[in-house]
Amino acid sequence: MPAEVISPPTAFFSISLEMIEPGDLLPCDLWLRPANGDPVLYRAAHLPFLREHLERLEQSGVEVLHIAFEDAAAWSDFVAERLKSRILDPNRPIEERVDELLSSSRAMMREVFDDPRGPGVRRTIEHLGDAVNRLIAEPGAFHSAVRLMEHDYYTYTHCFHVSVYSVGLGRAAGIDDENYLTSLGQGGLIHDVGKTSLPASLINKPGRLTDNEFRLMKTHPEQGIVLLDEMNWRDPIVRDVTLSHHERLDGSGYPRGLKGDSVTVAARISAICDAFDAMTTDRSYSRGMSSLEALKILRGAHGRRYDQRLLETFIRMLLDPEKQA
Ligand SMILES: [Fe+2]
Ligand SMILES: [Fe+2]
Repeated sequence: MPAEVISPPTAFFSISLEMIEPGDLLPCDLWLRPANGDPVLYRAAHLPFLREHLERLEQSGVEVLHIAFEDAAAWSDFVAERLKSRILDPNRPIEERVDELLSSSRAMMREVFDDPRGPGVRRTIEHLGDAVNRLIAEPGAFHSAVRLMEHDYYTYTHCFHVSVYSVGLGRAAGIDDENYLTSLGQGGLIHDVGKTSLPASLINKPGRLTDNEFRLMKTHPEQGIVLLDEMNWRDPIVRDVTLSHHERLDGSGYPRGLKGDSVTVAARISAICDAFDAMTTDRSYSRGMSSLEALKILRGAHGRRYDQRLLETFIRMLLDPEKQA
């Protein structure tokens, strides 16, 4: 009897090697895709991935492996569960756990923003938002995270920072609904995803934008909603943060120019965190401000744009570690 021929999957997404760690028991098949040839099964699900595998791949110049679309959920769940089991281990020092969250999230976020239409994006962000909220709930975690944040600006690092700041500010402001806080964290992680729909030359342009460029840039919250729609992501807080993080209390924001009470608490929190992170991180063309300078502007010159009570809480939280812990 002829052997059964199993044809390889037809749709794949790629993962960088840094996402797989020696010792992992693979949750799904990993494939190689030679430049001109058919996909080759590299290592099957449920087999361990060992250090020698990693070394051999690196020696051959392989930087990415591929996973079939139908395995996207299994892969996202695996990565997130691996991360959560480590960062929520109470026997490990908080600083070490926060460091692990930051380095893992960097790789996960980069993949999300490289391919926001990839099959596992929503699940990855949902898990990561949950991880952020659960870790930030622990004493000392918020300040460790702020200390360890990178200062170079990339959309994906910025989004991660906004997530951490938002969950921290929400908690400090007395919000104790864990589902709300998780959604707030998820919203922070994805809030600028609409920028991936705009030309990279616009996003990376050094210095000031022209009026036309700024008009285009201002479409990113709505572009973000288009992407959330494609993912069928209906969470109202995640959508609100994505659409409304540039709304300002005095009506000077965008895209809808909402004013006063029509700006929700989630939008107010994300507006403060978004502006603060944007002001304090380095760009290719300028260094970020100090925290104090940025807070002064948010409270003074731009005081009418932001919720001043939330801002006071944010300032106390940033400047007084004891309060947060
Ligand atoms: Fe934005
Ligand atoms: Fe932003």
